[in-house]
Amino acid sequence: SIERALRPRALDEYIGQHRVREQLEIFIAAARNRNEALDHVLLFGPPGLGKTTLAHIVAHEMGVQLRQTSGPVLERPGDLAALLTNLERNDVLFIDEIHRLSPVVEEILYPALEDFQIDILIGEGPGARSVKIDLQPFTLVGATTRAGMLTNPLRDRFGIVSRLEFYNVEDLTHIVTRSSQLLKANTSPQGASEIAKRARGTPRIANRLLRRVRDYAQVRADGKIDADVAAAALSMLEVDPQGLDVMDRKLLEAIVHKFDGGPVGVDSLAAAIGEERDTIEDVIEPFLIQQGYLQRTPRGRIATQTTWRHLGLTPPGGPDLFS
Ligand code: ADE
Repeated sequence: SIERALRPRALDEYIGQHRVREQLEIFIAAARNRNEALDHVLLFGPPGLGKTTLAHIVAHEMGVQLRQTSGPVLERPGDLAALLTNLERNDVLFIDEIHRLSPVVEEILYPALEDFQIDILIGEGPGARSVKIDLQPFTLVGATTRAGMLTNPLRDRFGIVSRLEFYNVEDLTHIVTRSSQLLKANTSPQGASEIAKRARGTPRIANRLLRRVRDYAQVRADGKIDADVAAAALSMLEVDPQGLDVMDRKLLEAIVHKFDGGPVGVDSLAAAIGEERDTIEDVIEPFLIQQGYLQRTPRGRIATQTTWRHLGLTPPGGPDLFS
């Protein structure tokens, strides 16, 4: 896929997430030096920040193979057992959406993670017996949008827990510039920065916007992506100067216009805008909260003064004295 073509393969090509990168660099170097599997790694954070990319990089840096699956795909214990028994020494098993593992599958993961062993049940009824199978040492890399949704016993079995943060504009500009080179797009530094500013802190969005802006530049301009062309293309895509998209504004407008600014519960909001609760919580809200448009309180979501002003309205308390 195009997305895969833009993905960095080695840790030193990976931009941003400096804290996570430094930690992984050290733990990988140490594990390699001892000829051991890297400890199990839990990556959590909003979608599009590079969890899958990092899993591939861990395997690449460890010099091992990566096997990939996801929580909902592993329906029965045998599905996971088949994967585990096929791993080679120190391989990486990547389980995306690991919070969606079924309890029976999670159960067989525990001894696999702790002792590199699985207990499988052979046969049914009174003749059934449990057989222990030894596994090769391996590294589980688990990814989830919300670490809070993992069971405690599962979370406790990860030796390395890394929280991915939204990227700052500088790092995103760097990523857009790198991707432009790979796509042979003619992007000026100001053009790259304009795309970066409107990418919701998320490399996957930055790369998607870059491809759409490149299309626009090719058809409506001379192919060159400068700040003006980027701004015109992004406004056509309904991404506003602060980087909020249609769904962001729909959510904020609902809170303000339908619920008087809140507090409003997430289920009422989901019904009001016709969106899944999980999508609101995992995809839309984290960036709005980080940017100060939204607050989560025990009584529900509240639109901040920043939101009222962003929508061209006067906040209920009246304008601030100093703004
Ligand atoms: N492409 C997507 N995410 C990236 C990152 N963190 N570093 C470099 N290129 C990327």
